[in-house]
Amino acid sequence: MTGKILVIHGPNLNLLGRREPEVYGTATLEELNGGLVAYAKTRGAELRIVQLNAEGAIIEALHEAMTWADGVILNPGAYTHYSLAIYDAVLACGLRTVEVHLSNIYAREEFRRHSVIAPACIGQICGFGPTSYRLALDALLDQ
Ligand code: DQA
Repeated sequence: MTGKILVIHGPNLNLLGRREPEVYGTATLEELNGGLVAYAKTRGAELRIVQLNAEGAIIEALHEAMTWADGVILNPGAYTHYSLAIYDAVLACGLRTVEVHLSNIYAREEFRRHSVIAPACIGQICGFGPTSYRLALDALLDQ
């Protein structure tokens, strides 16, 4: 596929580096994004990266991406576990989407072990910190 990719960081991910570093690591969102952009360059991909706390804003970003993006990397944060509106938006936009998580959601609290959004995605990658995003990019570009 051609490589215009929207990256959406969901709620609370603006606090990366300070937020529960034992779970999410010490890299800031800026550092994560810097590494991802550098990697995307080596793969010939073009990224637009947004961090959005509000559910509606994530949905609007998905709608807007229909006009330009080839794929989406989506970390829905806690919306992962209950937002049927984001699930619907992923289906509605028709863009190939990979769900990512920094942490291994299956090794955490019970409520995190289920994603309502993953069934709308081509796949899910979790547990590898910032590398989860790089793997998601590879997955989108290689298929
Ligand atoms: C997260 C996992 C979610 O359960 C949590 O609510 C987050 C971050 C992750 O990247 O590991 O906000 O999506």
